[in-house]
Amino acid sequence: MVQLIAGNWKMNGLVGDATREAAALAAGIAVAGHVELLICPPATLLAPLAAALKSAGIAGKVGVGGQDCHASASGAHTGDISAAMLADLGCGHVIVGHSERRADHGENDATVKAKAEAALGAGLVAIVCVGETEAEYRAGRTLEVLERQVRGSLPDAATSANTVIAYEPVWAIGTGLTPTSADIAAAHGRIRAVAGLAGVRILYGGSVKPGNAREILAIDGVDGALVGGASLKAADFLGIAAAAPN
Ligand code: PGA
Repeated sequence: MVQLIAGNWKMNGLVGDATREAAALAAGIAVAGHVELLICPPATLLAPLAAALKSAGIAGKVGVGGQDCHASASGAHTGDISAAMLADLGCGHVIVGHSERRADHGENDATVKAKAEAALGAGLVAIVCVGETEAEYRAGRTLEVLERQVRGSLPDAATSANTVIAYEPVWAIGTGLTPTSADIAAAHGRIRAVAGLAGVRILYGGSVKPGNAREILAIDGVDGALVGGASLKAADFLGIAAAAPN
């Protein structure tokens, strides 16, 4: 399966950064011919980044996606963005249920599932995030937590074509810490078994860098990466992509 290397810029970047990153990605893109690339910038940069990728000649190679969407199609939801609005801007994907959304905005599995349903309704691929907290990890509850989150967060109409799952241990995000390869393999195995979707892509996320990407992306059951901090610099993002197995 072709691996998906997705970047999550989170709340980082101004218009000038989008233009610069698109040019830098275009200059180095040759190393990433064997993977699919996606960048999820802040909502303010969706249109500028899409335009910059187009003028850099790599719009067909690097997709643009949202970091979140509302569960409703439209209405009185100040500050929120619908899945249809993302699709309208050319997005093909949207991340739902990132741990920062779950923690900062009180999103639970039911919220995440509703958002994923909305994404599918708008024709987007939902990237559904799951992952245990540090306390759950220390208590040896990782697989049980993942099982509950997968059961509760995946949309009813999920298929391997419209849904991607991202395993992101909360304690590994932005910390420089990563689980062992055996732990990642076990987590992906449990997620795959519970999801029951033949061929579904399962990404690993949490402190993926050029230096550890080769080992992580080679783990059985890992179909790509969801990259935060290291996606902000084209050289690092491409370094990760280059490390994906052929
Ligand atoms: P990180 O973030 O790569 O900075 O650890 C990953 C994520 O939150 O998706």
